[in-house]
Order: sequence, then structure tokens, then C-alpha cells
Amino acid sequence: MTVPWVEKYRPKRVSEVIGNKEAVQAFLSWMDSWEKGKPLKKAALLYGPPGVGKTSLAIAYAKEKGYDLVEVNASDWRTAEKVKAIVGSACEYATLDGMRKRMILVDEVDGIAGQEDAGGIPAIRDAIEKTKVPIVLVANNPWSQRLATIRDMCEMIEFKHIHKQLIMSHLRKICTLEGLECGDDVLKAVAERSNGDLRSAINDLQALAMAGPRIDGSTLVALGYRDRVKEIFSALVQVFQSKTVKEAWASTENLEIDPDSFFNWILDNAPQQLSDPADLERAMDFLARADLYFARIRRMQRWGLLRYAVPIMTGGVALSRKKTPKGFVKFSFPHRIRTLQATKRERELREGVLGKIASKCHMSSYKAGTEMLPFLSFILKNDGHAAKELKRFFELSDPEESYLTGKPGEEKEASVKATKPKKRPSA
Ligand SMILES: Nc1ncnc2c1ncn2[C@@H]1O[C@H](COP(=O)(O)OP(=O)(O)O)[C@@H](O)[C@H]1O
Ligand SMILES: [Mg+2]
Repeated sequence: MTVPWVEKYRPKRVSEVIGNKEAVQAFLSWMDSWEKGKPLKKAALLYGPPGVGKTSLAIAYAKEKGYDLVEVNASDWRTAEKVKAIVGSACEYATLDGMRKRMILVDEVDGIAGQEDAGGIPAIRDAIEKTKVPIVLVANNPWSQRLATIRDMCEMIEFKHIHKQLIMSHLRKICTLEGLECGDDVLKAVAERSNGDLRSAINDLQALAMAGPRIDGSTLVALGYRDRVKEIFSALVQVFQSKTVKEAWASTENLEIDPDSFFNWILDNAPQQLSDPADLERAMDFLARADLYFARIRRMQRWGLLRYAVPIMTGGVALSRKKTPKGFVKFSFPHRIRTLQATKRERELREGVLGKIASKCHMSSYKAGTEMLPFLSFILKNDGHAAKELKRFFELSDPEESYLTGKPGEEKEASVKATKPKKRPSA
């Protein structure tokens, strides 16, 4: 069993609690008043979003200052006897000389308040009135009516989301300790998605680490990690389940990918989503039409045509469905995008070479791809002497040269063939 990192890296001292300086300060002054024998209030209510260190602060403080921490579960508050047994005894002990100091921790108080019989609430109030030791209550949302009377008895200490930068640097520290190689882009993505919840950020990092000791942007994409991917999925659901053009069209409103990438997502998912052949035929017809527009948009940079392409590919597909779907069918990552990802390095090399040919020969990179590259590649492969000259003339780098010659490595050769220009270059 691997230890959850959230536990492994739970702060052991108050100084290790990151962010929320004001809350920490308020808690320290409250505890200070206890240490001096004149508590400001007998309980403190630490509240705020999850995963920001509320529980951790109480635990770290108790550890550091040698308090025995008595944790009381939400369910224990159901019966008054149980409460008395726990809290009562905790209070008693505290009054005996020579005993260790005690602190009572009641986590997830809002859970108690939400229970059918909120019988636990009066019990807590009772405990706060009688206690001789500090009681720390923790809640995400302290504003329910049922907690009103408790709020009055407590030092209210608010926790806030943890700043992205702090989360990133904390994650970086964990990476170092775990021997994990992790790009800043990854840490940023994790921090962003956590929404200031450090617990979920650490959990995500641990999950990503299962993919291997090195995590980069492509790992994130492969794992469907980025929010962007989630967004795409929900847009797809909308396209395939809308009943009207307008509704399906609206799916692209907040989409951050460009329409012709989204086109690929729709195209690749249509066969699974539309199980009825007649539905699929109609949808493919619309997609073919949209594709014509995209071709024209790309060729002539006529962006205005998007206003036809997009409703056709979304609304058209939506209207194609005459049969109602049977349950949910999973969406998949488009094959073309996966391939593009896998061949990214090669495409970069190709584009670099095309750019150099284009500028040396005063031609477009499209022409460079169709009329020069195949020959250049042939000559480089077969005529060592000319190859040297050409390499110098075109100022090709070593990786570019080996891309063109397909050496070393057999798979390179295959990929040169595969990328021989049949279609437009992506430049
Ligand atoms: N402010 C913080 N400083 C350091 N670690 C934190 C902090 N907040 C959360 N964590 C990490 O997340 C885990 C859960 O935090 P916790 O204190 O239980 O959050 P909360 O009680 O606010 O929901 C901790 O074990 C720790 O690993
Ligand atoms: Mg907690």
C-alpha cells in the first residue's frame, strides 16, 4: 500500500501550514489566550473551502505544543451519552494536575448540522459551555441556520483558497522529495484545476505520478487531465443530444479549441454515437459539407465562412439523429489528434525544413513541400557529396538532415514517406 501523499505531507508544525496567514494568526492568538488561562472564547470555528489546512492547523498545533488531541466524529454527537463520555472525560482529565494538555477536535460540524435529527447540535453547545479545554470545530460552510447558536459561542476563523503560486511551489517540493520529474506546465495545470484546494492538488499529483517518474504536458493530455478535455466532452454531449440547431450550435460558445479541431472530435465520435446507419449517413453528409467549408476557409483564409461551417457540423449532426440513443456511449479522443501528438516532433522538423527551403528558393512553403522536399530527401539519401553541399546551402541542422535522410532509425524512413506531401502542408 502506498501512503496517501496528503497524509505523508500533512504539516507537522504550524510553520508548515502554507497560506492563510491571518487565519493561522487568529488561531494562535486564540490558543494563546487558553495558554494564559483566560480563553477569549471556549471554542473556535475554523471554516472555509475544503483542502486548505483547517484540520491540519489544529493537528499541527497540538503536536507541536504537546496537546493530546481528542477527535470526535460527527456520528458520535448523535447520542448525548457518548458525547458526555468523550467530552466530559476530556474536560475532567484536563483539570487534573500533571496531565497532558488536551484539545478537542470536532471535524465536519456542518455534517452534524445537516443530519435529520440535529440532536448533536445542542450536545456541542453543551460541551462548549462546560469545557475546560479548547474545542476546535471545523466546517466548510458554517452559515446554516442550525449552527447559528454555535457560531455565537465561537471564535470565528475564516480560511480561504490557497494561492496558485503557493500550491505550485508546494507541489514542486513534493516532486523533489518523491524523485518526480515534472514540468512547470504540469504543476500549473494541476494547481489551476485544484481551484485553491491543496488536498485535491496533492491527490492529483500522486495520481499522475502513477504514470511514471516523469510527467509532461503529453501525459496530461493522454490522461485526459486538462479541463479543456472535459469541456470538449460536454460540448460533444450537447452536439449529439440536442434537438435543435440552435442548441447544438451553442455547444461551441465557450469552447477553447478551434472549430476545425472540434470538427475532428465530432467526426471521430459520430460512428459510436449514432448507432443507426441512416442517422449516421445523414450526419456524415453534413460533416462532409462542413469540411468543404473548412477547406475553403483554410485555403483562402475566409474566416467568415465559419458561420456556415460551425452550425452545419453541430446542428446538422444533431438533426441527423432520428433514433433516440440507448444510454450513454463513451466519447473517445480523435485518432487524428492522437496521431498529431505522436508526430509533433516530426512535424516541427518538417516545418523547419520547409521554411528554410522556402526562403532560400524564394517559394512558398507549400511549393517547397510538394516540389522540393521529396527531391532533396532523395539526393541527401543517395549522394553523400551533394548532401554535404546541400546541407550547407540550406543551413540544415543535424536533426533536420536525419529527418530528411531517414537515418538513423528505420521508423524515420517510414515517416518521411508518410509525410510526403499529398495534401496541403499545415503551414
Ligand atoms: N495550508 C496547508 N498547508 C500544508 N498542507 C496543506 C494545507 N492545506 C491542505 N494541505 C494538505 O492537504 C491535506 C488535507 O488538508 P486539511 O487540513 O485536512 O484540509 P481541510 O481541513 O481544510 O479540508 C493535508 O493533509 C495536507 O497534506
Ligand atoms: Mg478537514
